[in-house]
Amino acid sequence: MTNEVIFSKEQLDEIISDVADKLNARFENQTSIPVFISVLKGAEPFFNDLIKKCHFEMKIDFIQVSSYSGTSSTGVIHLKKDITEDIKGKDIYIVEDIIDTGLTLNYLKQYIQLHYQPRSITIVCLVDKKPLRKVDLTADIVGVTLAQNKFLVGYGFDYNEIGRNYDYIFVPTKKQLETWDKLLNSDK
Ligand code: IMP
Ligand code: MG
Repeated sequence: MTNEVIFSKEQLDEIISDVADKLNARFENQTSIPVFISVLKGAEPFFNDLIKKCHFEMKIDFIQVSSYSGTSSTGVIHLKKDITEDIKGKDIYIVEDIIDTGLTLNYLKQYIQLHYQPRSITIVCLVDKKPLRKVDLTADIVGVTLAQNKFLVGYGFDYNEIGRNYDYIFVPTKKQLETWDKLLNSDK
C-alpha cells in the first residue's frame, strides 16, 4: 500500500505563501523588528521556507521542546534548548509545525512570557490538528486545519526522529512503520 499524501510539495508551497502574505501585510509599514522563533525540530522546514517568503526585517532564534514519543504526545514537555536573543519588550512570532493537544504551545507561551516579558506573542502554525486539543489554545495565523486525527510524517514531522526530510506530508502505512521500527532497532 502506498502512502496517503496529505499535503503535496506544491500544496505546501501555496499554503506557506498564504501565511507569508498575511505576515507581509502586517509588516507593510514596519516600525519595529520582530523575532521569529522556530520550534525545533519539527518546524524547521516550514520556518526555513516561510522566512524566505517574508519581505521585511526580522531576527530569528530557536527553541527546542519535546513531548512526543512514537505516534502520540506524552503530555510532558521538556525544554531542551532555550533562545539566545534578548526578546524583552519585542514582538515575538513563535513558528510551530502543528498544534495537536496544544500543550506544547501552551507551555512555550507561558515560559516565554514569564522568563522574557516580550511585548507580544503571536503564534504561527502550519497545521492545526483539532480532535485531540486538551487546552484552549488557538494560533493567530494557521496554514491549514486538519479535522481528522491523523498521524503525519514528512516536512518536519517525524516518527521517532525519522521522516522529517520528506518534502511532502503523508500518513505512513503500517508496513512503513514496521520497516522503520526494524531500522530504528538496528540503529540502537
Ligand atoms: P501538542 O503539544 O500535543 O500540541 O503537540 C505538538 C507537538 O507534537 C508538535 O510540535 C509536533 O512536534 C508533535 N506532533 C503532533 N502531531 C504530530 C504528528 O501527527 N506527527 C508528528 N509529530 C506530531
Ligand atoms: Mg514540534
